[in-house]
Amino acid sequence: MEFQASQDQQMLRDMVRQFVEKEAKPTAAQRDDEAIWPTELVKKMGELGLLGVAVKEEYGGSALDYISYAIVIEELSRVDASLGVIASVNNSLVCYGLEKFGSEAQKRDILTPIAAGRSLGAFSLSEPGAGSDAAAQRTTAVRDGDDYVINGVKNWVTNGDHADTIVLMAVTDPTKGVKGITAFLADTHAPGCSIVKVENKLGIRSAHSCQMAYDNFRVPLARRLGEEGQGFKIAMTILSAGRIGIAAQALGIAQGAYEAALGYAKLREQFGKPIHEFQGVGFTLADMATRIKASRLLTYEAAWRKDNGLDYVKDASMAKVFASETAMWVATKAIQIHGSNGYSKEYPVERFFREAKITEIYEGTSEIQRLVISREITKD
Ligand code: CAA
Repeated sequence: MEFQASQDQQMLRDMVRQFVEKEAKPTAAQRDDEAIWPTELVKKMGELGLLGVAVKEEYGGSALDYISYAIVIEELSRVDASLGVIASVNNSLVCYGLEKFGSEAQKRDILTPIAAGRSLGAFSLSEPGAGSDAAAQRTTAVRDGDDYVINGVKNWVTNGDHADTIVLMAVTDPTKGVKGITAFLADTHAPGCSIVKVENKLGIRSAHSCQMAYDNFRVPLARRLGEEGQGFKIAMTILSAGRIGIAAQALGIAQGAYEAALGYAKLREQFGKPIHEFQGVGFTLADMATRIKASRLLTYEAAWRKDNGLDYVKDASMAKVFASETAMWVATKAIQIHGSNGYSKEYPVERFFREAKITEIYEGTSEIQRLVISREITKD
């Protein structure tokens, strides 16, 4: 058993930390306030190889392991969770799915520019009536010659308004339930695909989440991902990997909030001494550090299982539910340690608090993670 990062993993962490500290931190609060999409930072993430971390080099990626991928998302989110989710969606919900299920031509022509950061991807499963119940899809795809004609509305499409390709799920056979769902690689520049709205959100405001409509939108057969009827399984497989990314995002948010609280508790004096010397604050910091360490171990272990070809469905859900609830708890306590200052936008902890909340919701709510875990541990 090895609990230490390799030299390469440590160098990667240092590189990402340097990048976000210098280039993302100064503008993170303003971008969040004004919901500004980070065009230049996304470009830079691509140049640094952070948008296709675990993809093979021949398909434009950095060919690193999934632990390295978790480190990247953790370090981005420690400063700006919007960058974390933009990268996470591209890496795990798009690149991973394409590399695993795509044809050779799809990997060469569609995956390569996405993994190299020259093109951006998004993932589209949720609908107004299909959130936790992902199988309740209403968007339809009807075969017409060598095309499918897609009609429907999708929501919560992270990266939607900047994506070139969307991994899109639609019903090809309504009589077959989950086995009647098919995945497509939608080209957003083709006619019939439009943005209905960009959501006005509580947090991660710099990463845009969109409602999108498909109106007689034609997708060529060559852009079907996998076989007809495999779409639900493809989406679930992709989401299990994605949940490691969201666990890493939550871990980064928790780490950022903890570091802010620790720094404040050392500087802030009340009753004649730094407030960390009061047991109420010192013990809270101790619990924060402990829960973050547990989240990190769970997250890296789930990534390690994926790297080693072991089943990780349960482990990814455990990491996600634990890390996201830790992020929410740590961010809440970080505000408390800051007192009134924590409630002000002058300090970063209110942003961490708003960012933490979504990690308990997207890519499967905490309730769905518990459902997945309970099914897994009782199935034998
Ligand atoms: N990996 C592979 N296959 C899986 C799987 C997994 N993790 N989970 C389920 N499947 C397969 C099952 O084996 C089954 O196939 P078979 O019939 O061949 O055995 C099939 O999928 C159906 O599975 P279930 O019967 O378990 O399906 P269900 O309807 O009971 O739903 C669920 C299961 C876990 C609740 C699922 O609906 C779910 O995960 N819901 C949450 C959806 C979600 O996470 N949405 C997030 C959207 S993306 C996002 O957040 C936006 C963003 O951009 C960040």
